[in-house]
Amino acid sequence: KNIVILISGGGSNMAAIVKAAKQQDWERRYGARVAAVVSNKADAQGLVFAKDHGIATEVLNHKQFDSREAFDAQLAQVVDRYTPTLVVLAGFMRILTPGFVQHFEGRMVNIHPSLLPAFTGLHTHQRAIDAGCKFAGCSVHGVTAELDVGPILDQAAVPVLPDDTAQTLAARVLTQEHVIYPRAVAAFLQKH
Ligand code: GRF
Repeated sequence: KNIVILISGGGSNMAAIVKAAKQQDWERRYGARVAAVVSNKADAQGLVFAKDHGIATEVLNHKQFDSREAFDAQLAQVVDRYTPTLVVLAGFMRILTPGFVQHFEGRMVNIHPSLLPAFTGLHTHQRAIDAGCKFAGCSVHGVTAELDVGPILDQAAVPVLPDDTAQTLAARVLTQEHVIYPRAVAAFLQKH
């Protein structure tokens, strides 16, 4: 069972999943492995981590395509080279077309830095602080055509502290992302 992870930047969630796969021996337990890391940014730092861990990497520059559909069609072809059981969006900062989402329907997940259904979209931490939330957090969900909406697979909550800034809250949430994402992927692999 191949897992393909899509990133756009640091890839800390991807790294957490790669580490969990090794430490928890997903190969033996689920017959699963991280087969490739794909990025829309050639300078995504996560690509270095993937290469260092002997994982195939692919870069698809969305600027080289004249439409979102054309990019997504090529992206689907690249991802399909690895016959994925599961496609993991991890800090992948692209809005995907319905066609791409349908193609991977039921086997594509995402992590979003809020307690969905609250705060879909961007700047989630600042919005939680501005709203006076006492808790914030992160959610792993199945990807559907509607942005940041889909069946919630796992979540973690963290306190919002009185002196929090978006940055301090983001750091606290990110730590929990690295807990729930590997946990959610393992649960998916157990079921499929
Ligand atoms: C994280 O805040 C995650 O919630 C969002 O992208 C950010 C960076 O993730 N999806 P990563 O370090 O690139 O995995």
